[in-house]
Amino acid sequence: MWDTDGHRYLDAMAGLWCVNVGYGRKAIADAVHAQMQKLAYCPLTQTHAPAAELSSRVAGLLPQGLGHVFFTNSGSEAVETALKMARQAARQMHPGESRFKIVARHRAYHGFTMGAASATGQIARKRAFEPLVPGFLHVAPPDRLRCAFCKGSNACSLACADEFERMIIMEGPATVAAIIVEPVIGGGGVFPAPDGYLERLREICDRYGVLLILDEVITGFGRTGKLFGFEHSSIQPDILVLAKGITSGYLPLGATVANGRVFDSFLNDKNPAAKFTHLSTFGGHPSSCAAALANLDILCGERLWENSASVGSGLKGRLREIDDPRIGEVRGRGLIIGIELVAGPDRTPLPEADVVRIQKRIRANGVLVGRNADTVPGFGNVLTIAPPLIVSEAQADEIVDAVRRALAAKN
Ligand SMILES: Cc1ncc(COP(=O)(O)O)c(C=O)c1O
Repeated sequence: MWDTDGHRYLDAMAGLWCVNVGYGRKAIADAVHAQMQKLAYCPLTQTHAPAAELSSRVAGLLPQGLGHVFFTNSGSEAVETALKMARQAARQMHPGESRFKIVARHRAYHGFTMGAASATGQIARKRAFEPLVPGFLHVAPPDRLRCAFCKGSNACSLACADEFERMIIMEGPATVAAIIVEPVIGGGGVFPAPDGYLERLREICDRYGVLLILDEVITGFGRTGKLFGFEHSSIQPDILVLAKGITSGYLPLGATVANGRVFDSFLNDKNPAAKFTHLSTFGGHPSSCAAALANLDILCGERLWENSASVGSGLKGRLREIDDPRIGEVRGRGLIIGIELVAGPDRTPLPEADVVRIQKRIRANGVLVGRNADTVPGFGNVLTIAPPLIVSEAQADEIVDAVRRALAAKN
């Protein structure tokens, strides 16, 4: 990218974790141009060819069973759709119970709409709008650096996953509709699910009849080194939320994918009120679907998740080699990486003003990185790196070099 003064930058955040195939892909622009001339608009109260084709394409990338796709304009709306879907499906699957509660995690981000903000576990993004939607509960995220559960132990006990079970039991399983998690918390500071974590959540959900929603708005479409984040585990969600990488940001689009069990609960042959009365004028716009199809041609044709896995692991390794006491932890999966900066061996977060200074120096070195700003006061100390999935080893070195030099600078 170049700014208005002609300075060149390597965008190591892919915009907002979304330009997965990189900038300047003419094939996507051409596909949108052609679509606009062919059919500018058509509501999804019926359907149109690009939406039909895209839903089949997305379903084809997912395990069998995850096959029912609802399109929206954004990740927030796709989360909102998932939450509404979960509440209604839970009531219809468990007649006589009132399952409405949603269990999420502190530090997670799920979007800016009222439901998605309620699921979000970042007080700085909620405080001004409270009270939010009732029925949202939060447990601790997996945080190896300052884990309250596994203190002093080298291995993760998955006690943080068991917190979901404790919450469900305490609240009463017959009141809980769903759990929602990101496979890797992104904007909250990059916290990957430890090995076995998603499997544990799946077991808990199955034990208590609770739906599992995975928010893969960031992790979907190659970011973690697999096509979808849940593929690092052996489980599948009941509802999957997608956006960002579905079009690589070329046009707005989100998608909420339901499995057969959730979908079937809305069939209204016996009960007309069972249908999902949820409507969006622009969601699944023909041009956005055309952009997504061209984007997926590139992403799948170039198998970009493989580059994400290999360049991501080297990048993380080289960042870990930087010798600086302020680096508390470098963590991530594929091309979603967080550098947590601390003030000393007690792991107190580095003051945000210092973190911002370092981030600005990295930018002055020609590389754009992010920060978990406006999340939890005092914890905006994680630099985030999520470049386009086409990033080369040489460009990854450029990122490491910019970070190293910014940390070494004295003023
Ligand atoms: C995990 C996650 N969910 C949902 C959203 C909301 O998506 P959008 O900004 O497209 O509304 C985001 C945005 O960053 C996100 O990171």
